Amino acid sequence: MPKTLNIKAHIYRNTTKDINTLSRILKQGGLVAVPTETVYGLAANALNAKACRAIFKAKGRPTQDPLIVHIHTLKDITLIAEINYLVAPIARAFWPGPLTLILPKKTSIPSIVTSNLPSVAVRIPSHPVFRKLLKKTGLPLAAPSANPFGYVSPTTSHHVYESLGNKISYILEGGSCEIGVESTILDLRNPEYPKILRPGGISKNQIEKVIKRKVLISSALDYSKVNSNQVAPGLLKKHYSPRTPLKLTEHLKLPASKSSTRSAYLFIKKPKGILLNNIFYLSKSGNLKEAARNLFSKLRELDSGGWKKIYAEKAHGHAIACAINDRLQRAAAKTEFK
Ligand code: TXA
Ligand code: MG
Repeated sequence: MPKTLNIKAHIYRNTTKDINTLSRILKQGGLVAVPTETVYGLAANALNAKACRAIFKAKGRPTQDPLIVHIHTLKDITLIAEINYLVAPIARAFWPGPLTLILPKKTSIPSIVTSNLPSVAVRIPSHPVFRKLLKKTGLPLAAPSANPFGYVSPTTSHHVYESLGNKISYILEGGSCEIGVESTILDLRNPEYPKILRPGGISKNQIEKVIKRKVLISSALDYSKVNSNQVAPGLLKKHYSPRTPLKLTEHLKLPASKSSTRSAYLFIKKPKGILLNNIFYLSKSGNLKEAARNLFSKLRELDSGGWKKIYAEKAHGHAIACAINDRLQRAAAKTEFK
């Protein structure tokens, strides 16, 4: 990421004074970058169309890409969405946490938030500092990931500072994000046919166990079939992209010591052998939760390392492998559509 000029952002802390200040800013229609357990988000009052429009402007995000609305407790959901019989069991099992539900929207939510769709994305986050701010404002907060549109998502306040610090003034510090990839998005408009639109922190299996029925997976996640008509809004084939070209393979091998040192190699698990300074990995032991947690910061680090190309490998195994591979596949995509 190139160095950001004209920084105006200031980092606020988890103190009563700072939370009160940021709550006032949000109530007045301002933007605040907030920590969540998945990635940092750029929040505004979800009931204020003007404030939400400013989110799109700051991120350079097309207005056809709808936002997720974050609420503090389950009773807040009836203000913004029509619920059905699956919402309560799902909420009991996974909220607060990294799961977003798509439900029919209520009129309180301005159309800019949902890109004119009749549905709304809603989630109850678990990050304690964000929850404190949500509670203090008493508002639903719309928040996409706090990155310039299309770039790698932020998992630390520093990531937000370096890539949006010239566009926004307020960042709330909450440490490194525990999960590191965005929430799972579950389309629950028709409870007979729940469908995953984006893999994330909660797996298909976990959801199926709770609701005791099959969960579909959106065909937009099958990259061989993606085209501009099929893809769900915002779930573009090319996304989460470093500027350095990235090539994704099933399994990486350590390059021969004589091969180009202008390419970086990103392994899931620390490889055996002599590791030159162009060899990187996401988890020493190959723990996939740790790999997911480190994914975006490693991509950012490699992107500013002056490498000509990044070779990365897919994750295999545990459920979160699906989310890691989804992000790597999008990072590797050359165009938004085939
Ligand atoms: O973990 C997360 O979900 C993070 C944190 C900040 O909560 N947020 C996040 O937001 O990843 P964002 O905007 O980067 O991704 C939200 C995705 C978009 O791709 C958008 O298309 C989809 O949610 N979405 C939002 N509303 C939708 C709707 N009504 N129908 C279908 N997809 C929707
Ligand atoms: Mg995003």
